Amino acid sequence: MRVDIVTIFPAFFDVLDLSLMGRARSNGVLDVRIHDLRDHAHDRHRTVDDTPYGGGAGMVMKPEPWGEALDAILADADDPLVVFPSPAGQVFRQSTAHELSEEQHLVFCCGRYEGIDQRVIDDTAGRSRTMMLSIGDYVLNGGESATMVVLEAVARLIPGMVGNPESLLHESHEQDGLLEYPVYTKPSSWRGHDVPPVLLSGHHGRVGEWRHAQQLERTRLVRPELLRAEDPRPADGEIGRE
Ligand code: ADE
Repeated sequence: MRVDIVTIFPAFFDVLDLSLMGRARSNGVLDVRIHDLRDHAHDRHRTVDDTPYGGGAGMVMKPEPWGEALDAILADADDPLVVFPSPAGQVFRQSTAHELSEEQHLVFCCGRYEGIDQRVIDDTAGRSRTMMLSIGDYVLNGGESATMVVLEAVARLIPGMVGNPESLLHESHEQDGLLEYPVYTKPSSWRGHDVPPVLLSGHHGRVGEWRHAQQLERTRLVRPELLRAEDPRPADGEIGRE
């Protein structure tokens, strides 16, 4: 997958050289290119922002540097998806991560200040598939951390990224949409806390049932809105069974 990121803080993305992402970049699974927006600002101060029309606090990112940066990236691109991280965008979910992991080319446009001049988004939408994407109902200082979140969630779904793809199935927000069950490793007793006995039983059926019950219990307590009508309720006797 090719990924272009436009930002005024290229160094923010140095961490992409680490861990799974770094390996994916060096073995060619991910081709990530970072672009400094200021390379497309041609005045003496390399200005990328200005005051908002209509008044109000803060600064808005000027359209010209963005237009030029995107012209350069999109010139040789084959059907890319251009993503504008923004708290005003559609909410990013695990299902969105799966959709984006099927793309050949993603372009992330990291805004700062009060946002990017809307005409940049409109102009881009006139020539490429374009989306505004929010990672949650809170406000960050810019799109950089949101881009990192989206990229990490997407990249690990690309075939070849994660050693054992089966491990991806048993996670929160996958398959049945429930939160994941608690996990344990050796030793079986630590500081007086014992691993639940069913996990030591070697009985796969009972382990599976216990894990499912734990998922339901966690989801009911922390994120009840994720439960579906067909999920058993505590009254059904499912919860907490060992
Ligand atoms: N930029 C600022 N806040 C954001 C958010 N919640 N999601 C995506 N991009 C953002």
